[in-house]
Amino acid sequence: MINPEGRRGLFITIDGIDGAGKTTLSNSVAAVFHKLDPLITKEPTDRNEWGRRLRRTTKEGRLPKDVEIDFFHKDRLDHLENEIKPALSKARIVICDRYVDSTLAYQCDNAEEADLLYEQMSPKILVPNVTFILSCDVQTGLDRIAKRDGFVKNAFETYETLEKARNIFLSRSNQHYIHIDSSQTEDLVFRVTMNCLLKSFDFLSNFMIREFRSEDETNNISTFSTKRAIA
Ligand code: TYD
Repeated sequence: MINPEGRRGLFITIDGIDGAGKTTLSNSVAAVFHKLDPLITKEPTDRNEWGRRLRRTTKEGRLPKDVEIDFFHKDRLDHLENEIKPALSKARIVICDRYVDSTLAYQCDNAEEADLLYEQMSPKILVPNVTFILSCDVQTGLDRIAKRDGFVKNAFETYETLEKARNIFLSRSNQHYIHIDSSQTEDLVFRVTMNCLLKSFDFLSNFMIREFRSEDETNNISTFSTKRAIA
């Protein structure tokens, strides 16, 4: 499968604060595109020292900002070269749960700093065909995490960290971003995402295991792709 940008495969990233619903959505989208042998993957990875060290920080405490930026970036380059690009070269669909936008949202202090870091990083990484940013308010995210994991929070899951991350996620704007209000039900968020995907990449309808019709309801949920949102 060659996508409309002339690249093989399709590289989708799903980002947003903890509890926004990324993992659920990644799994539901992958299930529909079973025929494209989807690769569901996530960052930080557990495939190298940097990713494993970062995974431990969720329990052991955060590293200095510069070190986190460096480690997330190195983990990402390894992930790209050794997992994502090989899958795309086989024309698979790749769905990555967290990518560069998480680094911007969690490691930067504000949207301006995030823009500058993105300018430095984007030439070195593969820009996704589409990035879904799921947004819900911080309390909704925290309530979902508490339900899922009990009340044990990881080091990234304080209200202040997530509020700052949420604002940076909302500030991301470019052609390949689609923002989705994920305070809605899982099913509605999934159907909105499918509608956006099919609108952007109509060839995908040939590879679905079941039909999706655009329903009125899904038109009422807020999505936007190019304008900058202010929280
Ligand atoms: P997360 O996806 O929440 O892991 P888990 O599956 O264990 O819930 O990722 C762990 C944390 O890593 C998350 O809270 C956000 C943080 N993170 C960054 O700070 N920068 C990044 O670039 C990435 C990819 C993640």
